[in-house]
Amino acid sequence: MIAVDCREFLISRRSIRKFEPKEVPLELVLKAIEIARYAPSAKNVQPWYFVIVRDREKMARLAKIHPGAKPLENASLAIVVLADSYASPVSYLVDGAIAATYLWLALHCLGLGAVWIQTLRNIEEVRNVVNAPQNLVPVAILAVGYPAEKPEPKPRKSVEEITFFEEYGRRNP
Ligand SMILES: Cc1cc2nc3c(=O)[nH]c(=O)nc-3n(C[C@H](O)[C@H](O)[C@H](O)COP(=O)(O)O)c2cc1C
Repeated sequence: MIAVDCREFLISRRSIRKFEPKEVPLELVLKAIEIARYAPSAKNVQPWYFVIVRDREKMARLAKIHPGAKPLENASLAIVVLADSYASPVSYLVDGAIAATYLWLALHCLGLGAVWIQTLRNIEEVRNVVNAPQNLVPVAILAVGYPAEKPEPKPRKSVEEITFFEEYGRRNP
């Protein structure tokens, strides 16, 4: 049986796009990364790096990569999650996405709010902002800060809708 508070913790995470104008201490961010590094990865290669961006000029450049990146304008900081395509040529995107998810949950665990900012149409631009070499692919930017909103949960598909038995399409166990 799943402990109730564990379920509550997981389902209480939200995308937070509005932040208090209050600085997040670096120690808290490092604590979140300390947790995120326990993410699983293929062959335990851990092909990820986290770039903490607090420089407002860099943040402004990241906020302009596309309209959905706007939450970076009022975030306290950004964390760019980089995945190493040389270190893990098959699984780097999956591993990087898992690490970004762990980081998001770790931030939530520490009372911080965050939203995942899409990077995959703007790889070169994001790479340039953080001066990353070609083998490192930015898989996500997390905009991070103290939450200034409490969004309602977004609707989710039902278990019945997404679950099959033995083969795709079979609804009966
Ligand atoms: C791969 C990925 C890309 C996303 N890109 C953006 C984005 O660019 N801007 C944004 O505001 N939210 C973005 N989101 C957040 C989603 O919109 C959000 O997770 C989804 O609507 C469910 O809401 P919830 O996170 O509050 O549960 C992204 C999430 C994921 C996983």
